[in-house]
Amino acid sequence: DDYQLGGYPDFMQKEMHEQPEAMRSALRGRLDERFSTAHLGGLGLDPRQLRSIQRVKFLGCGSAYYAGQVGANLVEEFARIPADAEPASEFRYRNPVVDPNTLYVAISQSGETIDTLATVQELKRKGGQVIGAVNVVGSAIARECGSGIFLHAGPEVSVASTKAVTNMTVSFAMLALLLGRVRDLSVAHGKRIVEGLASLPDHLTSILDAQQDVADAARKYTDAQRMFFIGRVRGWPIAREGAQKLKEISYVHAEAYQASELKHGPLALIDPTMPSVVLVPDDELLSKNIGTMEQIKARGGPVIAVTNAEIPDGLADTVIRVPHSEPELDPILFTIPLQLFGYHLAAALGRDIDKPRNLAKSVTVE
Ligand code: G6P
Repeated sequence: DDYQLGGYPDFMQKEMHEQPEAMRSALRGRLDERFSTAHLGGLGLDPRQLRSIQRVKFLGCGSAYYAGQVGANLVEEFARIPADAEPASEFRYRNPVVDPNTLYVAISQSGETIDTLATVQELKRKGGQVIGAVNVVGSAIARECGSGIFLHAGPEVSVASTKAVTNMTVSFAMLALLLGRVRDLSVAHGKRIVEGLASLPDHLTSILDAQQDVADAARKYTDAQRMFFIGRVRGWPIAREGAQKLKEISYVHAEAYQASELKHGPLALIDPTMPSVVLVPDDELLSKNIGTMEQIKARGGPVIAVTNAEIPDGLADTVIRVPHSEPELDPILFTIPLQLFGYHLAAALGRDIDKPRNLAKSVTVE
């Protein structure tokens, strides 16, 4: 293990650091600067088939499900076709309407998660068109799907998934770009996205280089018994993934909420013992998210802003900075500081980061 850790204290730290390189592997050979699109040969779908897709549904468990939610948002933004995500674990137990014009995307790092595998089998039985977004080549889900997008993240050991999730989201950005460019997405918009994707690995490096700032921020909150993670639209799946990370490795209770829904109940929980991590991307909803921080502050709640925007002084107790990229791609970058936040809070509490209690890296039996 010491050899494999290569000087890192645990696999989660090692794998977080592998993200820039892992993302380069996922992007390699897939970005087309000439036509401002992406190539995903493993899909096995020609432009006519891509155009006939009327809906996209992402299915996965745990972090893979949240990555699917990011994917659904990107598909709607770039391709303007309806898309959503659902836990594969739920999908398999209801009686889903399987639509032949929907592209189903089964997401799994391991490719062995039983709920996701059973979902793929059920979809195939009912005539659904299903592709995989899988990290492990030759795994059960990859074989069952037969086509899809390999994630190219390399082996992942830590139970808390990092580089695989990052590569899921960047892969879905490419899928969304491809679906958009055979429809209405303009060359100029496509070009902006291709360039934005190409620059993401360097942004990941700069976030990881500033890790100490996030560690200092996280250590201020080791007394917290519970935390909110607040996001809106693009930020919502990121808030969910951030809360999930904190829960699984630190055992601190974390709940993700849409910023817009706070006033419909959860605001009652805000007090000085309930810190809120608020995702504040520099996009068209910035003023709304500033309003959210004001609402929390007014009720005495500590605010940790994760942001690439200029925000008014004094609004946040702690600010975690994220580099600027294209607004549509912000979710991919904002995930990283939340990994680091969960990691350092768990480390400060002395948790066994790579092997959280009661959890397994992949759940292959019911
Ligand atoms: C388990 C792990 C999670 C993971 C989920 C899906 O619950 O603890 O971290 O997100 O399985 O795993 P998969 O290999 O299908 O992506």
